[in-house]
Amino acid sequence: KRIGIIGCPFSKGQQKRGPELAPQESLDVLDYGDVDIAHRKYTPSYPRNMRNYGQIVGTVVNLASKVEEILKDDRMVVTLGGDHSVAIGSIGAHLMHNKDIAVIWVDAHADINTSLTSVSGNIHGMTVAVLAKELESYWPQLPGMEWLKNKLSLKDIVYIGLRSIDPLEKLIMSKFNVHAYGMEDIDRYGIYDIVQNALQYVDPEKKKSYHVSYDIDSLDGLEAPSTGTRGYEEVSISFGITSSKLVISVRGGLSLREGICILEEIYDTGRLAAVDLVELNPAIGSEDDVSKTVDAAIQILKAACGTVRKGVLPNDAVIP
Ligand code: ARG
Ligand code: MN
Ligand code: MN
Ligand code: MN
Repeated sequence: KRIGIIGCPFSKGQQKRGPELAPQESLDVLDYGDVDIAHRKYTPSYPRNMRNYGQIVGTVVNLASKVEEILKDDRMVVTLGGDHSVAIGSIGAHLMHNKDIAVIWVDAHADINTSLTSVSGNIHGMTVAVLAKELESYWPQLPGMEWLKNKLSLKDIVYIGLRSIDPLEKLIMSKFNVHAYGMEDIDRYGIYDIVQNALQYVDPEKKKSYHVSYDIDSLDGLEAPSTGTRGYEEVSISFGITSSKLVISVRGGLSLREGICILEEIYDTGRLAAVDLVELNPAIGSEDDVSKTVDAAIQILKAACGTVRKGVLPNDAVIP
């Protein structure tokens, strides 16, 4: 198994990691370094209600070319974010490399707001909408995103672990019949069956190239506290002169074991081509919180790289 790691420390900063993801000697992990972060100035022609649009456009373009390079090198791509907007670059590049992909989006959130529906203006909450073919006509012009020619069909994405969806996101999802498994579905059927069902839905012919976009906030706050959108959060929304506070509850997330199970099962298909690990924010919480969250991320990535929890025999095993 050959792997390429790329760091995209966009927006919130992160620490570069790599070596600890290679727990088995048989793993061939190549660190492709960090992507250059763009620092473009705001230009008035940028769309409204999209914070830091200039930097994001510049950064995802840089990331996309790196991701494409790694895919061409025939390695599984691990993109370490950064916030979830980096998936515009990684998924966009995967789509350039192979039109026939399936995205498994593991997240508390659907990140499917357009600039017209977002109450925060944060682009990490718009990533899926930027990528979606069906939503193209719902956007204003997105200058700098022209390279995203092969768009993602909303039929080729499946969500796992949702627990905090904005009402207008829900509207978009039901209009386009987007397939999603929320926490209540996991409660009812168990994570193993959910993953099997999700893959059966998104890739019935078992031929697609899989892209897992893993937002660490899908995990329960007890397992992964160092992330930006967890616990109870107040977001102020303003429409013209009225403004109010919206309380988003995101407790009650996945256990680390459920997160690991998702990646193990997807790894087992043999078609996992790219993983994003995003929204880990080392600036949030205590030192303990940070190391707990980093450790959770590593466990998830190890599962994505084929680690088997019940152990593997050494090569050339001889039982005395
Ligand atoms: N739905 C909210 C928004 O649009 C929250 C999005 C959180 N996204 C994330 N990648 N953590 O702002
Ligand atoms: Mn997200
Ligand atoms: Mn999220
Ligand atoms: Mn298995």
